[in-house]
Amino acid sequence: MDAEQIALAVIGGTGLYRLAGLDAVETHQPPTKYGALSGPVRLGTLAGRRVAFLARHGEGHSVPPHLVNYRANLAALQALGARRVLALNTVGGIGARFGPRVLACPDQLIDYTWGRVSTFCEEPGSEVLHVDFGDPYTPALRAEILAAAHAAGVAMVDGGCYAATQGPRLETRAEIARLRRDGCDLVGMTGMPEAGLARELGLEYACVAIVANWAAGCGDEEEITFQQVLDNVAAASTALPALLDALLARP
Ligand code: HPA
Repeated sequence: MDAEQIALAVIGGTGLYRLAGLDAVETHQPPTKYGALSGPVRLGTLAGRRVAFLARHGEGHSVPPHLVNYRANLAALQALGARRVLALNTVGGIGARFGPRVLACPDQLIDYTWGRVSTFCEEPGSEVLHVDFGDPYTPALRAEILAAAHAAGVAMVDGGCYAATQGPRLETRAEIARLRRDGCDLVGMTGMPEAGLARELGLEYACVAIVANWAAGCGDEEEITFQQVLDNVAAASTALPALLDALLARP
């Protein structure tokens, strides 16, 4: 395999355990010095280009957000030849433009997670990096995604601030009210440390957030159910093949 030929690595979130349309798949689960990946990396062809897919929570959704081995996942994708990572993140919507089934390409994030291994700079003797993170998502890749969405006729909100919470429980209404006051539009549990680690590795990295529900207190629901989350992710994900085709058609 020519590692350089991987055009895009896709990391799937809750409700996204396989990538529709990925053909001629080989699986790789390389050991890494950071430990085991969430599951196999599926490498195949999509729109005529080499694409890698990894389910962040494992293909049977067995890895909770705080236990995802973000370092191993990203290091393995890079070792297999990925340079660009499209992170698909299932989220709750806070801002009015971010209702269920919306796709959004956030441009900012706030990290509320704690106790996660959030850097590669912990190896004895490793150089401590203070990477620039003012724009946590690679602007050029965001622009490519938004242009692809436009070309494919896929509605996508441009921008928004992603709040990364610890989970695995959902938030209280008061916590969401605080996130809103902080300027957050979307809330999910896996955006960090993944984005920061990708930056440390020098990967291009951007997020397409799939809104599965109104965050606590933002809609009319008394309760957010996992079935509602899965149903809305499944409905919103029908746009992904066209989006990916258009993205991969770009040189
Ligand atoms: N909060 C946090 N993460 C989520 C949510 C939410 O409401 N919905 C899907 N992932």
